[in-house]
Amino acid sequence: MDYLITLMAFCLTINISLAQASKGRSHSPKSQPREQFILMEKQVYQSMQRSLSRYDKRRSFIPGDNSVIMKVPSTHVSKISASVHEKKLKCGGFYSFDSAQELEAFQKQLVLNSRSKVDPFPKTEVKKRNDIEKAVSQVEEKGIREMILKLSSFKTRYYQHQTGYDSSEYIMETWKNITQSRKDIEVSLYSHNWLQPSVVLKIPGKTEEAIVLGGHLDSISNGQKAPGADDNASGISTLTEVLKILVQQRVQPEKTIYFMGYAAEEVGLKGSRDIAKEFKNSGKKVAAVLQLDMTNYHGSADYIYFMTDYVSKNFTKYLQDLTDTYVKVNWGTSQCGYKCSDHASWNDYGYAAGIPFESSMHDYNPEIHTPDDKIEVSGGVAEHAVNFAKLALAMAMDLGA
Ligand code: BES
Ligand code: ZN
Repeated sequence: MDYLITLMAFCLTINISLAQASKGRSHSPKSQPREQFILMEKQVYQSMQRSLSRYDKRRSFIPGDNSVIMKVPSTHVSKISASVHEKKLKCGGFYSFDSAQELEAFQKQLVLNSRSKVDPFPKTEVKKRNDIEKAVSQVEEKGIREMILKLSSFKTRYYQHQTGYDSSEYIMETWKNITQSRKDIEVSLYSHNWLQPSVVLKIPGKTEEAIVLGGHLDSISNGQKAPGADDNASGISTLTEVLKILVQQRVQPEKTIYFMGYAAEEVGLKGSRDIAKEFKNSGKKVAAVLQLDMTNYHGSADYIYFMTDYVSKNFTKYLQDLTDTYVKVNWGTSQCGYKCSDHASWNDYGYAAGIPFESSMHDYNPEIHTPDDKIEVSGGVAEHAVNFAKLALAMAMDLGA
């Protein structure tokens, strides 16, 4: 019961903040369409028909599918999201799209994926390597802490605000500086049809087959300030530390390695969905996707909790074995219960994804999505995140090289 109450409070926070954020914004979005297409589970729709009726003048049912499509003015999306969350205790209970074509393509993909029960990641044994053990011992708390402080000093990293744009640029510049001695590494902004870009770094491997290490770079809150120190400056800062050590290895990896900071996760996993979709459409092969979202709040007894829904079972088992071999801390498992972060975008497109999380779902940082999501909540240090940097580095080296 406790869990349900927390989840509800958490989702409501998002919607209040969305309404406030759009009221107070000083920069208009980059060509946001006036209408959005919403895809909602039929069951959810039916149990809320009353409260939704004022928005659904042009709804239509998709035959043979378990969902409802509604075409609504863009300004209604956050209100409908609020209704879904209030009534169903469900975050992310629907998806919104800019066009009917995008929605249909997404649906087709979902149907294809639900048909294939095969795990996209093969069962893989971990064999201890000395170079990985040595690299892992080089992870430092200080670098992670400093990057969390820097990122949380932006007033907000909201996807429609100028400072949301600026924070993406800052991350790109930081990653460029770290990799400046390596002419083969490319870092760029990935534009979407809203203001904030994602950041994509590519370390070319001997083969095109890739691995992806990512986390969202945006923040959201129920007040003017959205420091998002834990959600998710922690994930981006953890990745940044991994990148530093990885470039020092100075060997060309076997697989191509991407580091990604996704835009607009907090408003429906939008940035990662665009990227995963492009990868799928251009036929890119991706062996595994690691998501780091919230790594620095030690809320439960164990040190790493592996989410078991919307992930690859085999990849998650492999990450647990890497934890035993190189991180050497106790871990547990937990469930989001809904598509809580960007790993779900990749999973939706059939890629093997995994998400090691800071605590169990009962005990996550209570200050996320508020102006108080600061590093002080984690004791002013990044000790907890160090474990995640070790795991991500071990994965990049073991799978990538
Ligand atoms: N970091 C959170 C996800 C999260 C929060 C996972 C608490 C586990 C425990 C993420 O940034 C987030 O807020 N996600 C949204 C997803 C939605 C907009 C599709 C959420 O949880 O509502
Ligand atoms: Zn969040």
